[in-house]
Parts: sequence; C-alpha cells; structure tokens
Amino acid sequence: MMKKRSLHIIRDEHASLAAMLRSMSLLVERGSDKDPRQFFEVMRAMLFYIDEFPEQLHHPKESNLLFPRVAKRAPEMMGAIDRLERDHMHSEKAVRDLLHLLLAWEQVGASRKAAFVDAFGPYVESYLEHMRLEETLVLPAAEAALSEEDWAALDLAFDQNADPLTGKYPPGPAFEKLFSRIVSIAPSPIGLG
Ligand SMILES: [Fe+2]
Ligand SMILES: [Fe+2]
Repeated sequence: MMKKRSLHIIRDEHASLAAMLRSMSLLVERGSDKDPRQFFEVMRAMLFYIDEFPEQLHHPKESNLLFPRVAKRAPEMMGAIDRLERDHMHSEKAVRDLLHLLLAWEQVGASRKAAFVDAFGPYVESYLEHMRLEETLVLPAAEAALSEEDWAALDLAFDQNADPLTGKYPPGPAFEKLFSRIVSIAPSPIGLG
C-alpha cells in the first residue's frame, strides 16, 4: 500500500469535488433555457452527489480521523482546524438549502432563479477556499508532524471509505446510475456534455 495514501485520497477527492463545482458553475452560466429538463436533472443529480459523498464521506474522514491527529501533533494548526470544522458543520445544510433553491427555480419558475444564483456563487467560492486552506495548511502540517502509526491508522480507515468519483473506487450498483447520468449530461471537466 502506498505510504500516506490518505493524503492522496484527500487530494483526489478535492480534485473531483472542484471539478464538480466547476462543471456546475459552467451549467449555471449557460442557464436553463436551452433544455430546462436536462439542466435541472443534472443539477439535481450533482447537488445530490455532493450531499451523498463529500458531505457523508469526505468531511467525516477529515473531522474524525485527520484533524484530531493534526491538532495533537501540530497545535499551531488549531486555529485553521477550528475554522475548517465550522465549515464542515454548516456545509451539509448549505448543500440542502441549495437543492431546495434549485427546486424552487424548477417548480416555481424564473422568479426564483436569482435566489439560487445568489446563493450558488458564494457556495462555490467558499467550498474552493475551504479546500485551499486544507491543502495549503493542514495537509502539509500533517505530512510534517504525523507519526508512522498515525499514517497506518489513517491509511487503513481512508481506504475503506473513499469517494467513487475519483475513479479509483467503484460506486456500487446503487450509485452507478447517478454517476453515469452526471457524466453523460454534465459539461467538462466532469462530463461529456
Ligand atoms: Fe474539509
Ligand atoms: Fe477536504
């Protein structure tokens, strides 16, 4: 097994999530007019994906496994970790709020578009900033301060709990449809549309 594999998994998952966010931004920029049915279907699928994988798998790995070890071995990271933990606490609600705003736009019509767009921009910005903070501060600190035992424990736990969108872990039959729907409709960098 690759050493410090958990760091690779975190970076891979960040890359997948960033690609998803960029792809969604592109869709929102293009707007819903050309093919509303397809626009709302893929946007719903993408927000649902974020709720199911990054929110349920990625953040808990960081909050429960990585951050406590980094806080112990590199106490100077406490401030950054506090801020990241606050983001984690709010991000599940943020994606569900966004999904609701999208449904309002879809069901009620154009009068509800601005509310979605106004929430979506800052959501993407803060998510990218969150990952940037992790990659520039917390991951390097982890790399410098964690022990062999820390890495062994992290690598084992991370390996059993990874996001299939990185392409290295099969999503399982229940999610295959979701992924193929996203990939077939979404624009680059996620999909072919
Ligand atoms: Fe995070
Ligand atoms: Fe992260």
